[in-house]
Amino acid sequence: MKLGIIGTNWITEQFIAAATATGQYTLAAVYSRHLETAQAFVAKVGSAAVFTDMAAFLASDLDVVYIASPNGLHASQTAAAVTAGKHVIVEKPMVTHPSQLAMIEAAKAAHPDVLVFEAARHLYDPNFAVVQDFAATHTLSGATLVYAKYSSRYDDYLAGKDPNIFAPRFGGGALMDLGVYLVYAAVAWFGVPTRAVYLPHVLASGVDGDGVARLSYPDFDVTLIAGKTFNSELASEIYTGRETLTFDSPGELNRVTLVGPQPRDLTQAKDANPMADEARVFAQAIQTGDQALAAKQWALAKQVHTVMGQLRAGTDIRFGNDPE
Ligand SMILES: NC(=O)c1ccc[n+]([C@@H]2O[C@H](COP(=O)([O-])OP(=O)(O)OC[C@H]3O[C@@H](n4cnc5c(N)ncnc54)[C@H](OP(=O)(O)O)[C@@H]3O)[C@@H](O)[C@H]2O)c1
Repeated sequence: MKLGIIGTNWITEQFIAAATATGQYTLAAVYSRHLETAQAFVAKVGSAAVFTDMAAFLASDLDVVYIASPNGLHASQTAAAVTAGKHVIVEKPMVTHPSQLAMIEAAKAAHPDVLVFEAARHLYDPNFAVVQDFAATHTLSGATLVYAKYSSRYDDYLAGKDPNIFAPRFGGGALMDLGVYLVYAAVAWFGVPTRAVYLPHVLASGVDGDGVARLSYPDFDVTLIAGKTFNSELASEIYTGRETLTFDSPGELNRVTLVGPQPRDLTQAKDANPMADEARVFAQAIQTGDQALAAKQWALAKQVHTVMGQLRAGTDIRFGNDPE
């Protein structure tokens, strides 16, 4: 498949490495706001056509577009790519407000053959299925899911610069950046919560540096801890009677261990590139026209972003492209 990319940061390089390693994608086009940036990027990753005009990029000979721009641009760029008849792999979060899902759905309705996947890479990690199986086969008493990493951009923020990921105009902050991995995990493993509340620590820029969410289910509650201003070494845990399943962050899933009367290491081996599994699954789905998988993942994404909207609705965090 001919791959076009939007965004020229390290994450795009990592995706291209994962994608080309599958043997199913060939980098064909790079969009950047600046010609020099596009050319410098192409020089690093191989050869490809370069574009600074989005319409020309989307009209070019591409099968699939990978979008890794600032969060606030994802929904409109996804809708534009679908409207141009291209399959889309869009970085998380696909939307920064649940109302933006309708714009993408309208574009999808006009192009029913096009598949759209949100690149929630942990869903395709073999250890995600290990935890999912455990949750599905045990009576749960609750869970704590943690993803908090000191952002490489936080130093810039503290120095008075205005990095996109700490900016409300682009839908930045801990919930949108890392919390979305936790909400995805909670909804996939436990279902849609009956109530979702978020207590953020809001930075002067207006986005959350960190925060704690509580998701309520009929028989248990789940605590989510997300942060971009510190590193957490806390384990994530799922509680069930005398046994506890422990793992690092749901966004990393390097080790899964059962603690209890019969402790066991349940970790599955995985690829060194954390985007390898999703790149392979998306290629297979697009090439076989797997509408069933796309519909299943779209339904999950809708549930996740509805919960994300509920979490943010109870806070003072407002983004530049929120509806009036
Ligand atoms: N899956 C993962 O593991 C993972 C890891 C990291 C990031 N991500 C996701 O990837 C996305 C990009 O993250 P990032 O940290 O790379 O973001 P970023 O550096 O702020 O921006 C990404 C790209 O967007 C373009 N851009 C920057 N500022 C822009 C602006 N003001 N207007 C329009 N375009 C702009 C730039 O490309 P040009 O200069 O070439 O136009 C840049 O390379 C985010 O949604 C993030 O959540 C995912």
